[in-house]
Amino acid sequence: MSTNKLFSTKIGLIAATVGSAVGLGNVWRFPAETQSNGGAAFLLVYIVCVLLLGVPVMLAEFSLGRGGRSDAVGVFRRLSPGTAWWLVGAVAVAASYLILCYYMVVAGWTLEYLYESVAGGLYNTVAEGSANAEMRSAFLLKMEEYVTSDIRPVLFTAMMIGVNIAVLLGGVQKGIEKLSNILMPVLFVILVAMCAVTLSLPDAGEGVRYFLDADFSKITPRVIVNGLGQAFFSLSLGMGILITYASYYPSDTKLMRTSVIVALLSLLVAVLMGLIIFPAVKSFGLDKESLEGATLVFVTLPEVFAHLPAPWFWSTLFFLLLLVAALTSTVSIAEVSVAMMQDRFRLSRRAAVLVILLPLLLFSSLCSLSFGSLSDFRVFGMTIFELLDSFTTDILLPLGSMAVCIYLGWFAPKTLLADELSNNGALRSPLTPVVLGIVRYLAPVLIALILVFNYI
Ligand code: PFF
Repeated sequence: MSTNKLFSTKIGLIAATVGSAVGLGNVWRFPAETQSNGGAAFLLVYIVCVLLLGVPVMLAEFSLGRGGRSDAVGVFRRLSPGTAWWLVGAVAVAASYLILCYYMVVAGWTLEYLYESVAGGLYNTVAEGSANAEMRSAFLLKMEEYVTSDIRPVLFTAMMIGVNIAVLLGGVQKGIEKLSNILMPVLFVILVAMCAVTLSLPDAGEGVRYFLDADFSKITPRVIVNGLGQAFFSLSLGMGILITYASYYPSDTKLMRTSVIVALLSLLVAVLMGLIIFPAVKSFGLDKESLEGATLVFVTLPEVFAHLPAPWFWSTLFFLLLLVAALTSTVSIAEVSVAMMQDRFRLSRRAAVLVILLPLLLFSSLCSLSFGSLSDFRVFGMTIFELLDSFTTDILLPLGSMAVCIYLGWFAPKTLLADELSNNGALRSPLTPVVLGIVRYLAPVLIALILVFNYI
């Protein structure tokens, strides 16, 4: 492999991996899940899941990627030639592509909301000082206008696909790494600035208490299952993403340290988001509203901003944050398929990027239309968007992670994990047996429980 297919700096590879992990999952899904799973108790479960299971599973993917030095299918072919394990990689690639189809649509909405925040369209019909109920219906109407029309969201999604193409054509160093080096600091600066504002609102303390003061009696099996699901989603596990990125890590990258940094930064973003959202909704009396799903970011938060001086400014900052988070994640999800096309079918990077991203124009448009003219088209009672979302997150994501654990724990070359965690003996890695134990036993059992629990 030529060295320009490797990340060029330590900071760059961490920025890219954190960029993949920090996405709509942290900024949007996490606060919504926290709200529907009882507040602080969920946060606690999520943190434990990230550290206890997320980090070891991440290390499993890192070891496969760097040890196999290939795409998500190729690593299995190289490490276990002549077996059917490559199918695990193939399913991961397929799953990541399905996720990309609908994730890109939400990224498109984010771009549309950013545009409307800057251009003023989002706030022009909402009178300052309106009552909460009035404001809510105004923003719900806006959301309907922006999201359910057939043309506009498709156009914004197409623009996001265009940006992804431009970044991915730049390759690993000049595309993905450069983008992440610029955007990750932007993301953290915006988060901290917004957090400082919401924490200084009147009654912010009550929201903070709701988010941080855990009531252990609220920890139920359902909360644990959801916390584990959120941990895997937010760390980009089970989709071949970290296998692909780790194949670009230089041989002296310390995998243990990298995984802990990525997990902690991803947790930090989720916690900062909670510290933005819960104090703000409490302070403006919006905490009784449903904070679930898309309405949290596209209705409730615009309501929060409408209460602040210069709503368009805060709104622009927030949707920029969301866009940054979404873009660095879509790039990582798409890279799984791009790498596979390059390595398996010997395509040039340019051809691979186009073969993967151009058809997305059609697939993502179909997902987008499931809020417009295709809203009545249902499969198993779900729209195309809902079907893809639940099939990937509820089934393929846990299955993918479980398969990776079972493979690495039981079937991969015996010394792979130890070699990778110690950089072939150059580092001390006393925690290797603990990681191996979790990957072999605890993680597959808990993931199997999630799968079963989701169906009872
Ligand atoms: N980890 C990112 C997020 O939380 O949004 C992106 C992502 C990757 C989400 C893979 C879901 C997934 F299956």
